[in-house]
Amino acid sequence: METSENVISMPRIGDDAPDFEAVTTKGRIKFSDFAKDKWVVFFSHPADFTPVCTTEMSGFAQRKAEFDALNTELIGLSIDSIHAHLGWVNNVRNNTGVYFDFPIIADLDMSVSKKYGMLQPNEAETAAVRAVFFIDPKKKIRLIMYYPLNVGRNMDEILRALEALQVADEHKVALPLDWKKGDKVIVPPPKTLEEMDARLADDSIEKVDFYLAKKSL
Ligand code: BEZ
Repeated sequence: METSENVISMPRIGDDAPDFEAVTTKGRIKFSDFAKDKWVVFFSHPADFTPVCTTEMSGFAQRKAEFDALNTELIGLSIDSIHAHLGWVNNVRNNTGVYFDFPIIADLDMSVSKKYGMLQPNEAETAAVRAVFFIDPKKKIRLIMYYPLNVGRNMDEILRALEALQVADEHKVALPLDWKKGDKVIVPPPKTLEEMDARLADDSIEKVDFYLAKKSL
């Protein structure tokens, strides 16, 4: 039940990413100074030394080069101590050879998780859900995913969505269902009758009708 005490702040798409200072596995950071001029994928996991989280964190680590190529920094978070984080990073490295080479926030006082709506008490009161925030170089939130504790995320989709956001910005286009790099993109629909007639007469683009037209980049 929602009471004034348990109302949580839920950042929304288009909001400025809430600023914070935190202790991480790579030292203390102030978010507004982190990853200047870069995109950030900021994600939470429920707990260190748990199976689904280990697969997800390993997924981020193994595909870090793809995030680097998209000018994107990774940063993780859970409500665990820095000692637990260090132990888990070392344990996974020793067991599997995968190294979590990005900062992981130790959010023991839950202050960051609360700012980002990562604590959803009807799912878990003391663990963050599996959230992913896509934050652009102006520190605006552009896309949000929330997954429950018992379902792991999809790394292909995280990378696809990140690339889609960047392509949409760069080319001022929209991306259709299941779009992936190399596919045609959607040309913004006309806004006036004149533009509509021009679109209808334009044979250089693939059209279903004036409001649904695609082109290659
Ligand atoms: C897991 O990562 O396996 C997990 C963590 C918290 C609750 C349930 C599953």
